[in-house]
Amino acid sequence: MLTRELIIEGARQNNLKNLNLRLPHNKIIAITGVSGSGKSSLAFDTIFAEGQWRFIESLSTYARLFLEKLDRPDVDSIRNIRSGHRPRTEEPCQRSTFYRRHSH
Ligand SMILES: Nc1ncnc2c1ncn2[C@@H]1O[C@H](COP(=O)(O)OP(=O)(O)OP(=O)(O)O)[C@@H](O)[C@H]1O
Ligand SMILES: [Mg+2]
Repeated sequence: MLTRELIIEGARQNNLKNLNLRLPHNKIIAITGVSGSGKSSLAFDTIFAEGQWRFIESLSTYARLFLEKLDRPDVDSIRNIRSGHRPRTEEPCQRSTFYRRHSH
């Protein structure tokens, strides 16, 4: 059913090459690829960033003063997104996600 899918068109954040994707909700999805291939660019910088952007937009002007806002991702359209919460906050870092997650 279409509304159960997250539909992404023309994702170009960082090195993404105009990705078009349909991703099911309520499933576990693994994004694989070599370091630098764009996994974080898709998961965090595109999908999560858009979810957070829309969530923050729904808040009052006053509440927004206290929140850090991400840049809106470089993407033509994202449909059926649910507002997002990153599982764990980390300082922005150019190093690999694997390195960041396992170096503490
Ligand atoms: N904030 C940014 N500004 C500019 N370029 C970026 C930014 N973040 C990532 N990139 C570039 O985008 C490309 C994809 O990086 P990304 O972090 O999405 O890869 P990844 O697949 O998550 O890698 P890793 O497995 O190392 O976590 C890389 O060339 C990276 O240098
Ligand atoms: Mg990564």
